[in-house]
Amino acid sequence: SPADSCAVVADEMTASLFGGSLGSVCQPFLLPRGEEGKTLSSVAKIYSFLGEHSVDRSGTLLALGGGAVGDAAGFAAATWLRGIRLVQCPTTLLAQVDSSIGGKTGVNLPEGKNLVGAFHPAEWVFADIDCLASQKDEDFRQGLAEVVKYGAGEDWGFFSWLEENALGILRRSPSLLEEVVGRCAGMKLAVAARDERERRGVRARLNLGHTVGHALEAAGGYETWKHGDGVAAGMMVVFRLACRLGELDEGHITRLERLLKSFGLPTRPDRPWNEIVPFLLRDKKNLRGSLRLVIPRRGTSCELRRDISLPLLREAYEKTALKGEGTPCALDGKPL
Ligand SMILES: NC(=O)c1ccc[n+]([C@@H]2O[C@H](COP(=O)([O-])OP(=O)(O)OC[C@H]3O[C@@H](n4cnc5c(N)ncnc54)[C@H](O)[C@@H]3O)[C@@H](O)[C@H]2O)c1
Ligand SMILES: [Zn+2]
Repeated sequence: SPADSCAVVADEMTASLFGGSLGSVCQPFLLPRGEEGKTLSSVAKIYSFLGEHSVDRSGTLLALGGGAVGDAAGFAAATWLRGIRLVQCPTTLLAQVDSSIGGKTGVNLPEGKNLVGAFHPAEWVFADIDCLASQKDEDFRQGLAEVVKYGAGEDWGFFSWLEENALGILRRSPSLLEEVVGRCAGMKLAVAARDERERRGVRARLNLGHTVGHALEAAGGYETWKHGDGVAAGMMVVFRLACRLGELDEGHITRLERLLKSFGLPTRPDRPWNEIVPFLLRDKKNLRGSLRLVIPRRGTSCELRRDISLPLLREAYEKTALKGEGTPCALDGKPL
């Protein structure tokens, strides 16, 4: 209702690009861009802003930006007055296909990423694919890695559709992007709805490629590779592993490699196995000798397994590291 209070949180970039459409009524609170904005001190500043604007229990917080804005503002909405209504307006491909849906919000601590958070689903998500036209290639590519994940992990028909339309998607054809966002958002919603709090192992399926991907990101100090780059190489490793387990064929590896390459994503790890092991084992879930890993399967959705040994993963990792492209590159092979 017009009488209800509303506050907008954006970052410096998204406010300047899209803030105009909010009109003069709503001056957004500005977070620093990216991970710098995903901190407890930023959230404390959002609380002050909500207080100044007298946002009460019937109020709404609207997050206008990528995943970093959505996560930090979402956490503020989850905790302000024990939770107020959240509306997400995701402006990056990653946020539109992934982070704005499913209710996970949170911030980073010096001890690690996403360590503090809350489940607080948005009441509305407004994803406008026109926003994606201004994304930097490097950022757009991070979202494409998650898009490939939905194909490889949830829907092989969608994977084939991506193969057929890779060039048009890379060129950001609006009609293709509409389909990409619609289909991926639908898959995220369907999986998250079956396991809202990630307790049944269903939602963990969305982590295809992420165990190795997170370790690669962390081993590079979050400076060499971004999330999607790590996930892309991580998917190549679990495809190799799935082949060894008889769940996939060599042909699947070739198809994934071709698709990732056409999206400018890396297809092999950028560092030796011994550099990532400490980060794999840092994850407490992996401590007892066998790993929790999401394994793709031919013709059906992927599966969370708890019986994969470290040596088996190492074998697949090292085999993948010998092949493929180690650095992200454009379609013409030039560095992005
Ligand atoms: N909550 C979840 O379920 C979930 C899932 C996946 C990822 N995440 C989180 O999402 C974050 C990454 O999200 P992201 O990739 O959207 O990054 P981001 O929010 O950091 O945005 C990347 C950059 O793009 C700029 N930007 C945003 N929209 C733009 C546009 N339309 N045009 C031009 N520039 C634009 C931003 O200012 C920023 O500098 C990470 O913090 C990650 O942990 C959360
Ligand atoms: Zn991810």
